[in-house]
Amino acid sequence: MSGLFVKNYGCQMNVYDTNKLLDLLSSYNYKETQSIKEAGLVILNTCHVREKAVTKLYSDLGRINIIKQSYNPNMLIAVIGCVAQIQGNDLIKRFPYVNFVLGTQAIQNLPQLINELKGKTSKKLHSVDTRFLTDEKFKILNINTYVHQKISAFVTIQEGCDNFCTYCSVPNSRGREYSRDFHLIIDEIKYLAEQGIKEIMLLGQNVNSYKFVSDAKTYYIEDIFSEIDKIGGIERIRYLSPNPQGMRDDLIESYRSIRKLMPFVHLPLQSGSNRILKMMNRPYTTDEYLKMVEKFRNVRSDMMFSTDLIVGFPSETNGDFEDTINMVNIMQYPNGFYFKYSPRPHTVAASMPNQIDDKIKNQRFQELHELMLKYKEKSNSSFIGQVVNVLFENHGKFLNHITGKSEYFQNVFVKNGNENDIGKIKKVRIKSFNASNLEGEIID
Ligand code: 5AD
Ligand code: SF4
Repeated sequence: MSGLFVKNYGCQMNVYDTNKLLDLLSSYNYKETQSIKEAGLVILNTCHVREKAVTKLYSDLGRINIIKQSYNPNMLIAVIGCVAQIQGNDLIKRFPYVNFVLGTQAIQNLPQLINELKGKTSKKLHSVDTRFLTDEKFKILNINTYVHQKISAFVTIQEGCDNFCTYCSVPNSRGREYSRDFHLIIDEIKYLAEQGIKEIMLLGQNVNSYKFVSDAKTYYIEDIFSEIDKIGGIERIRYLSPNPQGMRDDLIESYRSIRKLMPFVHLPLQSGSNRILKMMNRPYTTDEYLKMVEKFRNVRSDMMFSTDLIVGFPSETNGDFEDTINMVNIMQYPNGFYFKYSPRPHTVAASMPNQIDDKIKNQRFQELHELMLKYKEKSNSSFIGQVVNVLFENHGKFLNHITGKSEYFQNVFVKNGNENDIGKIKKVRIKSFNASNLEGEIID
């Protein structure tokens, strides 16, 4: 039995892919370890969306190689996912101690490559596979085996992107849009329900563009919602990430009838300036975005939103940045992710003129950060005294704490719960909050 060290960078889809890959490797006599020293196999599932994640990978690889040379020269290292897809052979050239480079749609080939090494004395084999074998990948990923997550589980329904936002590396790393077979998704969710999963998080780079045609019928994400609604045991449905473009009214309307849909939507705005949105190739205006929010709220008045924002996109002026600040003031997001623009290889924006100085990016980022914190605090404090429904998922940091999520995706912990509450939805009255959690008391 040999150790298996795994690290995921980037988004939830990598977590989903890696878990499926671990299932494929389950007969290979590896046992997961947190210690690289003990690892016979290292799997790094990588992210290319910003330079920072790639730099982190490089430094991790350096560290892992030192351990490989000092303790375990036979250690196999697999770099998979988005960086593997984009860099392919260049990764091996730069890091010759990496054995396998498998792109996002070729990860399923790892077990076979390991097999081919069996009986060979030299472990210096290098293998690079960056083919887009999406059909094969999902055929293999459809196998339902071990459930890695508790209570709440990811299910990828769609992968890739055809939008080509000018800053974004995803169309290159994940390929064109691909929607999984509707029936196989439902089978997977039924299986997860039988294993005790209570919440399903549907995943896709562009999750609301899910579209699967079979027997002359077209299935959309709302059809997945309706099917899950009928599956006993699953209490909550979430999805990540939808895009403002291609948001169909039918999706919004489904909140009327499907009570399992949680009233919290991540709706990436990216910029509050219509000029910058156009340069980003985001085909909506801020007015249209606000109208969409309005439509959601007309269907569910308590709907809350989070967002993604980028500062320092090429040519962004102080005025453009103020437009972003203005939208944040209107939306008062209780939560969100924000980034300094990071030029990515092979994207249109990387070669646009007027790239913004790091100093200005940092200043704008800091200003946005402070504003986002202000609205987070405002939102948190508005919950004091209110009762929310919490699905408990875990033990907290301290012995007597249990933690879970409210319907609005807030982290909530309580001290008056116990083991038996995990996996259940309880009414909790909120008493206080800190930077990342609400604290409350179970009242039923
Ligand atoms: N620079 C900075 N942020 C980016 N994102 C995507 N590409 C870039 C980039 N080149 C952000 C977007 C996206 C989130 C996943 O990452 O906000 O929604
Ligand atoms: Fe990162 Fe995007 Fe790849 Fe996810 S799909 S790992 S966010 S580059």
